[in-house]
Amino acid sequence: MSAFTVAQSAPTAVESILWIALPYVALAVMISGLVWRYRYDRFGWSTRSSQMYESRIMRIASPLFHYGIIAVGLGHVLGLLVPQSWTDAIGIDAHLYHSLTMPLSIAAGAATLVGFVALVARRRASALVFSRTTTNDKVMYLFLGAAILLGVFVSWYASGLVGEGHNYREDVSVWLRSVLIFQPQPEYMAQAPLGFQLHVVAGFLVFAAWPFTRLVHALSAPVQYVARPYIVYRSREPRSAGARTARRGWEPTRRD
Ligand code: HEM
Repeated sequence: MSAFTVAQSAPTAVESILWIALPYVALAVMISGLVWRYRYDRFGWSTRSSQMYESRIMRIASPLFHYGIIAVGLGHVLGLLVPQSWTDAIGIDAHLYHSLTMPLSIAAGAATLVGFVALVARRRASALVFSRTTTNDKVMYLFLGAAILLGVFVSWYASGLVGEGHNYREDVSVWLRSVLIFQPQPEYMAQAPLGFQLHVVAGFLVFAAWPFTRLVHALSAPVQYVARPYIVYRSREPRSAGARTARRGWEPTRRD
């Protein structure tokens, strides 16, 4: 599985709770919560947009956060789900792998963090935007903020920008795959550096909170989000015919 060796002793109670129970409970709450929310609150399944109250900061912070987090997500799939032995087999050793992924990882983490801080500051700065923030969302922002901050820290730590560097593909990644195939090996995560452990706990808390917050909007096939306005506002007044061609997403509705 890996050249890296870990102690094979029985996990302690805390290790079992964190590295066996937590991921399964969090994923079960996430999946069942999403099904429940979709069935009983389909009309509330939204981002609860606040664009109408403030759009100046949002115009920059929102794409920064969203493009950043999409890149971070793709990086997680690559770094956590693709075994190191596969990349070794095609001639990409651990050093080359981290040299190739490090710049992207650091850029994606920075964009996500800056976008997130700006979005939260905007929410706090505008009383109207703040009034649209539910208690569940506030708790979620706490977990998400912790996951992003610790994620940026572990990314810097992994690459040696701070601390000594760490190859998480030999412990965190092996552990996550063992959980996903229902053969959990908590000993791998138990030996990972503390920053990685805290990041993973924060990440699973975000997953558990997901269905009860505005994050549900991320699962609404957001394919058109990239090119369309956040909310389509249309004037009641008919425009003078042929004045200008409507932009995509802004075409007038049919008036019968
Ligand atoms: C909602 C959940 C999560 C969020 C928001 C999140 C966010 C982040 C961010 C912003 C970074 C730094 C940028 C990057 O390297 O891509 C990062 C790095 C990292 N995360 Fe997460 N993460 C989450 C869940 C997880 C989980 C569940 C795991 C493992 C089981 C994990 C493992 C890692 C690792 C190993 C790194 C370092 C990657 C590198 O430097 O190449 N993350 N995360």
